Amino acid sequence: MTQVIYTIEEWRTKYEEIKQLKGSRIGFVPTMGYLHDGHLSLACEAKQNADVVVMSIFINPLQFGPEEDYEQYPRDLERDVEQADRVGVDYIFAPSVEEMYPTKPKTTVKIQEITERLCGASRPGHFDGVGTVVSKLFHIIQPDTAYFGQKDAQQVAVIQQMVQDLNFPVHIVTCPTFREDDGLAMSSRNVYLKEKDRQEAVVLFEALQRVKTLMLEGERDVKTLLDEAQDVVSQAPSADIDYIHIYRYPSLEDISYIDTDVIVALAVRIGGTRLIDNMIVEVVGKEVSFRV
Ligand code: PAJ
Repeated sequence: MTQVIYTIEEWRTKYEEIKQLKGSRIGFVPTMGYLHDGHLSLACEAKQNADVVVMSIFINPLQFGPEEDYEQYPRDLERDVEQADRVGVDYIFAPSVEEMYPTKPKTTVKIQEITERLCGASRPGHFDGVGTVVSKLFHIIQPDTAYFGQKDAQQVAVIQQMVQDLNFPVHIVTCPTFREDDGLAMSSRNVYLKEKDRQEAVVLFEALQRVKTLMLEGERDVKTLLDEAQDVVSQAPSADIDYIHIYRYPSLEDISYIDTDVIVALAVRIGGTRLIDNMIVEVVGKEVSFRV
């Protein structure tokens, strides 16, 4: 049975037991809850490689902008515990906001450059909030390995940079994006989509597929690929494009002709709900492979 832990002190006691009595390896899956199969796929990966799997469920106010959906963000801890139990999560760490931030933190983590583009440009301060909470969670849980989804590829790049710069003794694993049958990336925010919007939401995946097809045909010009991707998204009447970009990955530097690894990333509002998706393209000479 999955055990729910609400306080840092409770986890510290449990941690000592786990480490001293069993010397076990701890796999950690940080989330904001309202679990779907994408979150659970990370837990399954953790289950295969760690002795003890810990998932955190904490909606981190620090990473939401003032106009964003912090208050409305979907919450259902009881259902989350059932789902986590189904895939063998051993512990859920579900602290309150007061437990994590008893006072407004005066120390935060700021990750430069890679946070200035894509979602970082549209959501100022977002990745500093993510970096701060993930470093707190790493210090609290003390995992050996932590699992993140490629769905949030910029988040992975930011966390990897932070772990390297600040010498966190945590190994980071990236898991593939888990999708609905029509290709829509699973997201807790998909529940906001009305039926018509849900049908239109597939254009994000279709735009990535269009870029993939063109690249397989030999196209390498960034502007041409972006124009094509934009055409695909524009076919959805409710789509309002926040950004579509191709950058080097993971550095997120500019590129105009693709001769190295890149990310194709887009953020689109469909009927007011902001959705993101991406594809990593690995390039070795004339060979290209796709992680989508
Ligand atoms: P959240 O959006 O709940 O996502 C938790 C983890 O699940 C992230 O690593 C995310 O990339 C992964 N994930 C979400 N949808 C996925 C999908 N369709 N396929 C595969 N993985 C998916 O990301 C956050 O929470 C927060 O920023 C957090 C890291 C917990 C810090 O607050």
